[in-house]
Amino acid sequence: MTKVALAGLGYWGPNLARNFDDLAELTWLCDTSDERRAEFAPRYPSGRVTGDFDEVLADDSLDAVVIATPVPTHYDLAKRALEAGKHVLVEKPPAMRAIEMDELVEIAAARDLVLMPGHLLLYHPGVEKLKQLVDAGELGDVLCIYGNRQNLGIVRTNENALWSLGVHDLSVILYLLDEEPSEAVAHGNAFLTPGVEDVVFCYLRFPSGKIAHMHLSWLDPHKMRRITVVGREKMVVFDDMELERKVTIYEKAPWKRAETYGEWQTRTGDISSPKISTDEPLKLECQHFLRLVAGDGDRAKVARDGAMVVRALEQGARVRGRRQAADALTPLDDQARATAARRRGGWIGHLDRRGLVCRDKSRRARHPGRPVVRS
Ligand SMILES: NC(=O)c1ccc[n+]([C@@H]2O[C@H](COP(=O)([O-])OP(=O)(O)OC[C@H]3O[C@@H](n4cnc5c(N)ncnc54)[C@H](O)[C@@H]3O)[C@@H](O)[C@H]2O)c1
Repeated sequence: MTKVALAGLGYWGPNLARNFDDLAELTWLCDTSDERRAEFAPRYPSGRVTGDFDEVLADDSLDAVVIATPVPTHYDLAKRALEAGKHVLVEKPPAMRAIEMDELVEIAAARDLVLMPGHLLLYHPGVEKLKQLVDAGELGDVLCIYGNRQNLGIVRTNENALWSLGVHDLSVILYLLDEEPSEAVAHGNAFLTPGVEDVVFCYLRFPSGKIAHMHLSWLDPHKMRRITVVGREKMVVFDDMELERKVTIYEKAPWKRAETYGEWQTRTGDISSPKISTDEPLKLECQHFLRLVAGDGDRAKVARDGAMVVRALEQGARVRGRRQAADALTPLDDQARATAARRRGGWIGHLDRRGLVCRDKSRRARHPGRPVVRS
């Protein structure tokens, strides 16, 4: 049985502990907080408990490390675990800079280790249904996708709403479109914690012309967990707040009737909700990780997909007029960013006059003189 250690026993870690205790051998629990260790030690008597991550890594019999600590610690802990020869499942996002994520991907590839980001929503059966609909062409050409991830709380202070909440929607949007955005711009404001945006609106544009949007906020009266996909033939909504109708398909679309001389009309048809399995997404995520550790599946792909999400986050990270939380913690090195871009195959961006990262083949470059609307 795979031997797993868990670092981080805060809000989210206990969910991972429960699943890995069921699916594998949970041999270590690690948290820097005495209280958290004292609370969890009796619940998992077969696991050893420590506040020292190095003690965990020194265990030669250990196969994998699961990291559910605060976001700014992810890169360092994941790197140390990979360098110690352990497979890693790290909560999202695994790093707060693309250059760091690229480094983790390289270390994992060089040692043939699993580096899997905890993109929970990708394991939601409702999202899997969206993917099936998109890939089967049921919706026609996908034109745009938008995500709403709002609530009052949990107020985060380490990472802003884009990095904390947006990573969920972004992972789904990229999964559904299977395309890397050419443009990502975020606007937001820090109302509660200086430098940490509580409300973010993020716009994405893809080389194919598809567009996406995300409204991310922990300062909102509505609890929304919704992704809407607009296709040319049909539209579909995944609403995780719904108990039964998680996915709703709308036969609504624009069309042209011959007798109206090419004017656009709209048509509306059936509205249906397919059955969606109630399997726990986190359990499916943990099972996928264990399968990858066992040598089943494409190890490199999960790491690459994770890197694509971090790159898109970094592109959108420069919220207008201020630096993003990650930047404030570790000043961005633009030279390093360009080097990372070159390494991953030619996406060399530049900073525009407002500090936004643009790709050289941006819309502005292709259409000189035409303003890029950013708000
Ligand atoms: N997938 C999801 O839906 C989901 C939901 C919530 C949180 N998360 C992610 O889980 C991670 C943790 O979030 P949380 O809300 O549980 O945070 P938290 O602050 O509640 O818990 C973090 C825990 O890590 C411990 N810790 C800090 N540094 C450590 C270190 N170096 N070594 C060992 N332990 C350390 C802290 O003492 C704390 O107990 C974050 O990355 C967050 O984005 C994911």
